[in-house]
Amino acid sequence: MRPPSSLMERRRLGTTDIQASVLGFGGSEIGYQRVSARSVARLLGSALDAGLNVIDTAECYENSEALIGQAVAARRGEVYLLSKCGHPDGWGRRDWRPASLLASIERSLRRLRTDYLDLIQLHSCTRAQLQAGDAIAALERAREQGWTRYIGYSGDGEAARYAVECGRFDTLQTSVSIADQEALELTLPLARARGMGVIAKRPLANVAWTYARKPTEPYYQTYWSRLRSLDYPFLRGPAQTAVATALRFTLSVPGLHTAIVGTARPERWEQNAASLQIGPLPAADLERIRTRWREVADASWVGQV
Ligand SMILES: NC(=O)c1ccc[n+]([C@@H]2O[C@H](COP(=O)([O-])OP(=O)(O)OC[C@H]3O[C@@H](n4cnc5c(N)ncnc54)[C@H](OP(=O)(O)O)[C@@H]3O)[C@@H](O)[C@H]2O)c1
Repeated sequence: MRPPSSLMERRRLGTTDIQASVLGFGGSEIGYQRVSARSVARLLGSALDAGLNVIDTAECYENSEALIGQAVAARRGEVYLLSKCGHPDGWGRRDWRPASLLASIERSLRRLRTDYLDLIQLHSCTRAQLQAGDAIAALERAREQGWTRYIGYSGDGEAARYAVECGRFDTLQTSVSIADQEALELTLPLARARGMGVIAKRPLANVAWTYARKPTEPYYQTYWSRLRSLDYPFLRGPAQTAVATALRFTLSVPGLHTAIVGTARPERWEQNAASLQIGPLPAADLERIRTRWREVADASWVGQV
């Protein structure tokens, strides 16, 4: 891995040897929104130039893996590639059988144009599927074969809790944002105590507060409704300050190492990287957001996959 090309902060991902840029890239949008190869090359090229080194994708984000492979193959030594397995034919269809998981990982290697992944993650299977043990064993086999350097779980709630407790994973990817704080008590303290790497997914709560009316897309609706109830005053201020505060909140959570922001737009990286230059969120601001969450959140406000 080349030395950092910018001032972007890096954090060691738990006890792995990955020195992760705090701002990572979430690869679902480029797949689902069918972004062109040219735009992805521009987006990831400028992100890498800005010091980003974590790219997360999955087997089921349409052609996301192939787009990323095409864009970064020539810069493989500058980037950590993270993918997921368990939905080989799209998000709606699951297959946790070991042979299927291994075939999916092999396909991810081809699509990403690499001979190893830095991290492969089980893509949000249930606690029962984790407890059965053979899906985790498949990932361990992939690690033994050199297809991946580390293994992780990506998901939330009780399944994530089990993934931390079982001691077989190097990392946890879980939802953490101003609209999703269950993990701060349920999983992160234990993950931290055990030296696991923690990756925040959906770190901007999909900027759901910017919709004037309830979004038609179900994926955004829970965060939109929660944010209406939370009614954080900073969300009423200048748009980019609100995004910056939301991102700095996520990155100020103890035990969290990188936040994989999704975007389909090349200019976002500079914007988001710049918003981090002012440093961590002051403790008083962090506490205000936590206090508001405790006042408003009820038992149904669980981590959103
Ligand atoms: N089960 C799982 O394992 C799972 C589930 C969900 C997500 N994930 C991972 O987490 C990643 C991130 O999740 P996500 O994309 O759903 O949520 P997110 O990062 O919280 O939100 C992404 C949204 O934020 C917008 N955005 C980014 N920077 C912005 C800025 N400076 N100003 C205004 N808007 C901005 C993007 O819009 P533009 O496109 O306009 O920039 C995009 O619509 C995914 O890509 C995926 O890798 C994993």
